[in-house]
Amino acid sequence: MPNRKPIVGGNWKMNTNRAAAAALAKGVVERIGTQKNVDTVVFPPFPYLLKVGGLVTKSTVALGAQDLYHEADGAFTGEVSAAMLRDCGCTWVLCGHSERRHVIGESDDLINRKLRASLAAGLNVILCIGETQAQRESRQTDTINIAQLRAGLESVTNDEMANVVIAYEPVWAIGTGLTATPNDAQAAHSVIRSTLVDLFDSEVADSTRIQYGGSMKPSNAAELISQPDIDGGLIGGASLKPDDFSLIVGAAAV
Ligand code: PGA
Repeated sequence: MPNRKPIVGGNWKMNTNRAAAAALAKGVVERIGTQKNVDTVVFPPFPYLLKVGGLVTKSTVALGAQDLYHEADGAFTGEVSAAMLRDCGCTWVLCGHSERRHVIGESDDLINRKLRASLAAGLNVILCIGETQAQRESRQTDTINIAQLRAGLESVTNDEMANVVIAYEPVWAIGTGLTATPNDAQAAHSVIRSTLVDLFDSEVADSTRIQYGGSMKPSNAAELISQPDIDGGLIGGASLKPDDFSLIVGAAAV
């Protein structure tokens, strides 16, 4: 049985303000800032990265950004490069979050460029994939996950996969209070892991961590994370409450 260290991310999305972000960061560090059995990452909005980075720096909580642009520098108004994120203390970045795919309109190709630019700059990446409700109802869950995985990881090497985590986030479960059943989530994770065997090899597939995301909360985290192919969670709403987020990290530590 491969020994995959659980990983839990807190995606704060476009929430908090300067004071609330600092309070949230302090609350998380107080509760789980010495937890070593789980990789824990917080993803604040861009303007608060430096402040939150300063607050988590002496803890085991890592800093991540919610997005980036793949070019190194230049005339790209409004965008932020991987090097800038590194410069602000980030060690992680999200690529392909469903809100970027479905609200902002990012393509698989753009997501792949962002992912490769992140890896080249030395960032760890969480690649988010997942089907919409209509796709699930028309039994396309596996097809969509496989396609998003294949496109998102195009031209990524086996070695680079050591710095990639996959987050399976069914779009219909994000922010809705609806959660995939542990069985459904496990089934999707298992297909994702088999796809990693096809795309890379069984060693990469066994060692890659696959998180579940979509209304994960203290009441359902333990059961989801206890599934054999679920290696943690990517948390939105519940990551804004230090108590809830810490309970989820605690569930992953067991
Ligand atoms: P949620 O968001 O926990 O609020 O459903 C998860 C995510 O978008 O990563």
